[in-house]
Amino acid sequence: MALFSSSTRNIPETGDVPQHIAIIMDGNGRWAKKRFLPRIAGHKRGVDALRHTVKACTELGVGYLTLFAFSSENWRRPAEEVTFLMQLFVLVLEQEISKLHNNNIRLKVIGDRSRFDAKLVDMIERAESVTRNNSGLTLTIAANYGGRWDLIQATHKMLAANPGCALTFQEAELAPFLSTSYAPEPDLFIRTGGEQRVSNFLLWQLAYAELYFTDTLWPDFNTLALKRAIKSFQQRERRFGRTSEQLRKNA
Ligand code: IPE
Ligand code: IPE
Ligand code: MG
Repeated sequence: MALFSSSTRNIPETGDVPQHIAIIMDGNGRWAKKRFLPRIAGHKRGVDALRHTVKACTELGVGYLTLFAFSSENWRRPAEEVTFLMQLFVLVLEQEISKLHNNNIRLKVIGDRSRFDAKLVDMIERAESVTRNNSGLTLTIAANYGGRWDLIQATHKMLAANPGCALTFQEAELAPFLSTSYAPEPDLFIRTGGEQRVSNFLLWQLAYAELYFTDTLWPDFNTLALKRAIKSFQQRERRFGRTSEQLRKNA
């Protein structure tokens, strides 16, 4: 069962650091193009931005960081780019896993693994297993992930577990089968690279996330840019359907 009640029911303190940040790391290709480099150079630099972001989140006391690395639609890209991204994923796991572990970070990978090759699946399983008992930041990488896929796979699993509930099931029965059931819902959603869309990321889980869009391209994203996003988040009033007056009365 999920350990957390839905963030759409509980109102977190305003001014707090978000407990869960979800990021669409976009703009690698444009970063490279601006420098007359191949797109893959942007992906390589994107890994540095990822490292800085993980470190900054650890230092700021963020509990959960979920990063969109490869969408279920990204298979539509040129084959060389897809192959490069898969190889980069293996390489980064190999290089980073002991560092993540030494920093008490728990790694999770969400998404459909059935299209990954055996070596990648094996690396993912090993990385998750080595870090499973760590109590610091939970870092989730969404790879071959799609929000619609998540809803369908959760429904399949729920029906397999409770065949009788098909016609009457409720939110609370489905939620434990979503791929992020170990985490509270994201408080802050960030998309870099200037596009203002969700691109099939965490469709269910983002229901009440505060949305933050920046033109900064992912390879240029750094601690300062993260702090700006958090500052913007801290100025929002999260009402979850209530009125402002109700929130002030309960304060
Ligand atoms: C995001 O950057 C990384 C992945 C989707 C893997 P892009 O590769 O989408 O970069 P742009 O949007 O083309 O600049
Ligand atoms: C979303 O970025 C997916 C990731 C960052 C992994 P895209 O660049 O693929 O999104 P669209 O195609 O512009 O919506
Ligand atoms: Mg893009």
